[in-house]
Order: sequence, then C-alpha cells, then structure tokens
Amino acid sequence: MGHKIVIINGSPRNGSATSKVVKFILQVLEELKADYYLIDFENIQLPQFNDRQEPAEVANLHKKVNAAGGFIICTPEYHGSVSGALKNFLDYCSIEDFEGKPAAMVSVASGHGIYALTSLQMIMRNLHAWTLPLSVAVGHVESKFSGDNLTDKKIAGRLQLICKELIRFAEIFGENKFTHY
Ligand SMILES: Cc1cc2nc3c(=O)[nH]c(=O)nc-3n(C[C@H](O)[C@H](O)[C@H](O)COP(=O)(O)O)c2cc1C
Repeated sequence: MGHKIVIINGSPRNGSATSKVVKFILQVLEELKADYYLIDFENIQLPQFNDRQEPAEVANLHKKVNAAGGFIICTPEYHGSVSGALKNFLDYCSIEDFEGKPAAMVSVASGHGIYALTSLQMIMRNLHAWTLPLSVAVGHVESKFSGDNLTDKKIAGRLQLICKELIRFAEIFGENKFTHY
C-alpha cells in the first residue's frame, strides 16, 4: 500500500450530499488500510485561477496532487457539470500532475448525475489521468441515505469496488512509472 491516494470532495456546500459520499469512501479507505490525503472544498476556498503566481495555499495542495499515486474525485452535479470549486482547482493543475496515474470518479446529484460524471471523465482524460472504466453516479442522492448513513447496498458495493480497483491500479501504474514523455 505504498501509493498515496488523494481524495477530493468537490462540493463547497456545508453538509453537502457529496461530503456524505466522501465520508463513506474514507471509511472504506480506512478498512483497506490505504494511505490517503483528503482535499475538501467544503473547508478550502481557493482564489480564482489566473496565470500569475500560484498562491501558497494552492501550491501546498498542488504538491499533494503531484506526489499522489492515484485519485478518487467526487463532484456534485451543478448545472449539468462539475462544481466550479473543483474545476477551479483542476485549472491550477496540469498533465504533469496526473499523467500515468489512475483516477476513480464519483458524481453526486439530485438528478441522475451522468452529466457531471461525463464532464469529469472528459476533464481527467484531458489531464492525462487513467480514468477507471468503473465510475459511480450517486443519482437521486436523497433516496440513497438515511441521515448520514448510506443505505443503498448497490451504491455502497460500487463505491467499495472503485476504492479497491483504484488502489490496485495505483500499485500497477506506480511500479511501471508509466509516462508518455
Ligand atoms: C448551483 C447548483 C446547481 C445544481 N444543478 C444540478 C443539476 O444540473 N442537476 C442535478 O441533478 N442537480 C443539480 N443540483 C443539485 C445537486 O446535485 C444536489 O445539491 C446534490 O446534493 C449534490 O450537491 P451537494 O454535494 O453540494 O449537496 C444543483 C445544485 C446547485 C447548488
């Protein structure tokens, strides 16, 4: 388990549905004894990206991403896409941060969540991450939880599976140090 996993909560809202999904994933990562680091946009507000000097708080997160061996990226669906908070952070990042590394993706939505998931897959492919074929759309999220507890067994099983897959592929990619350049 030598490869650090960065997990991102892309919702900036307090007590968001995405943060509940992230909490479930964190429990799974604990059970799997994974080495992980959480970037939680509920608690972090970054300045809007421009191409001037990178602010210190971004540089800090950027280092975590650059050193990671794999990613679990969770986004809420906002207006048919990923959250602005997540996209703003990803705009600070580049191919060098993600190339040759696997990324598992999760969307969370009141509706089906497919638009956000598809947008996220496209963004991550443009960053040259190796997007796992299995991803999870936690659609109609209000019906999947009782309070803070994830009650939908199918979604729980899929989230457990992507965590295992992500760790497995982080090991494989890490050993092979695969890059295009
Ligand atoms: C600005 C905004 C835009 C949203 N747009 C959509 C949408 O396009 N489709 C959808 O299914 N839900 C939409 N929602 C509802 C969210 O998917 C819902 O709040 C869900 O709980 C995930 O967001 P959260 O993690 O911030 O709670 C939107 C919510 C906000 C705040």
